[in-house]
Amino acid sequence: MRVVVVGSGGREHALDWVLRAGGADVALVGVDPDVEALAERIAAHGPDLVVIGPEAPLVAGLADVLRGRGLDVFGPSREAAALEGSKVVAKAFMSRWGVPTARYLAFDNPSEALAYLATATAPIVVKDSGLAAGKGVTVAGTLEEAEAAVRAVFSGAAGASGPQVGARREVVIEECLSGRELTVMLLTDGATYRLLPTARDHKRLCDGDTGEMTGGMGVVAPVALPDPALLATIEETVVKPVVAGLAAEGLFYRGVLYIGLMLTPDGPKVLEFNVRFGDPEAQAVLPLLASNAPELFRAVARGELASSSVTWRAAHTACVVMAAPGYPAAPLAGVPVSVPADLGEGVLLFAGGLAPAGGPGAYVTSGGRALNVVGIGASAAEARASAYAAVERISFPGAQYRTDIGA
Ligand code: AMP
Ligand code: GLY
Repeated sequence: MRVVVVGSGGREHALDWVLRAGGADVALVGVDPDVEALAERIAAHGPDLVVIGPEAPLVAGLADVLRGRGLDVFGPSREAAALEGSKVVAKAFMSRWGVPTARYLAFDNPSEALAYLATATAPIVVKDSGLAAGKGVTVAGTLEEAEAAVRAVFSGAAGASGPQVGARREVVIEECLSGRELTVMLLTDGATYRLLPTARDHKRLCDGDTGEMTGGMGVVAPVALPDPALLATIEETVVKPVVAGLAAEGLFYRGVLYIGLMLTPDGPKVLEFNVRFGDPEAQAVLPLLASNAPELFRAVARGELASSSVTWRAAHTACVVMAAPGYPAAPLAGVPVSVPADLGEGVLLFAGGLAPAGGPGAYVTSGGRALNVVGIGASAAEARASAYAAVERISFPGAQYRTDIGA
């Protein structure tokens, strides 16, 4: 099977790996804001299947353009991708289908948002409604911080990196939830769904969940849940209503849906939807797939998931992100990275932002989250130990990584 994977980061390298492991012939095609030009480049490969990695091309309608050309595509339609592209759309969808989430208000102008904040109490959460590459959310400890976040959204300082859904800037102000976070991803072809192993991202830059918000600094999978019944609760209260809502509203969805949850004392509540694999969740979860990935993803793309069984390895993974100095604000490119030929048993390495520098194992940083080091083991502790043993063997000046992934 010839497969094109759209995108070029750590997630796409994990997709490339799992598809090759299933026997596919894979080409990675980098993104382009011009959807028609991108579709042309993809079609030139004559693929049997196209797997779209990142959110921006999905929100811009790449899946629809490719389907219009008769291709099998793993990735939702533009209309369905608004669940990630617009937090206002996502919150309204959840309200319509009774999906538990933080109470919220949406505003399309700064004066009303600021007037509302004057009556609110901190902590409170301010979200740029549009795509913001993981930088659009402020968990504000004070109202001053919340006001600054509102101003930033409307001044265009935040969210400028992705396509907006609709012409207007909008902000969501919501209740601050507390608890541990959990990621549940599912494959769906719109009719049926299959859950992926649970995962837990570590979104802050530094140990102990301190420092800046990032795109994700590390993931463990599967997650040890406090209560074995929790997953069934999430399926009943969140997953089923969401999948049913997509179908009832005629939102064409064939791909993976990422549900970010907060496990609150009042039960699991949805923080966000992503309409693609998480990055670095994919790097931790895909190595656990025992089924044939090309066959499975094609079944999703063709609406034939009901006749596919999906099996997972009874193993654990820990993915540690090694980021370039200056990440997230201003990652430094060109930092030399040397990768030893042997990283040890049970270790996978996925490039996130690395460019070859000539010679075996010689690279330079070319992006923020430069490397994803994944340890696989029979237990969570083994997976973590393998990942960190490999991390210590890859050194580069100013490397930033957390030492508490899965601790
Ligand atoms: P989101 O992109 O909506 O998932 O937000 C990114 C991160 O912000 C989440 O992973 C949480 O850590 C945090 N966050 C988002 N919404 C809330 C909320 N209502 N209460 C507390 N933290 C939140
Ligand atoms: N790791 C979170 C995300 O992919 O959005």
